[in-house]
Amino acid sequence: MDIEKLIKTAEEMRNLSYVPYSHYAVGAALLCEDGEIVKGCNIENASYGPTMCAERTAFFKAVSEGKRKFTAIAVTGGMQGEKCEKAPPCGVCRQVMREFCDPKEFRVIISASTEDYDVYTLEELLPQSFGPENLS
Ligand code: THU
Repeated sequence: MDIEKLIKTAEEMRNLSYVPYSHYAVGAALLCEDGEIVKGCNIENASYGPTMCAERTAFFKAVSEGKRKFTAIAVTGGMQGEKCEKAPPCGVCRQVMREFCDPKEFRVIISASTEDYDVYTLEELLPQSFGPENLS
């Protein structure tokens, strides 16, 4: 896995964030099992509730294009125009990851730069999770 490429893609995506309310720009780069990278940014809304996180933007784009198997996601955030900082995915995004990814295998890369990042399994970020197997 080319972690550096994934992190750089997430960093670039911060420039496309639509964040007129929080001014907090998040970028995500989702690596599919076939090697494709699907990109996402956060998209806010005047009504606040419809705001979409960068990670879910990437996941929903990917799934709606027929992708179902994922290896890793890189996420980075920070105030608009300022340097990247580590931005841990929110609980809702972790649960969306859980729907499509094996908690022991899927990697979440939380980065401030290509030199400063942490790698977690989804299980570490969402222990004792509820998932599709619970309903089968
Ligand atoms: N945000 C994300 O994009 N991902 C997360 O996991 C946490 C929060 C966004 C939502 C909102 O646009 C801004 O960050 C501030 O909460």
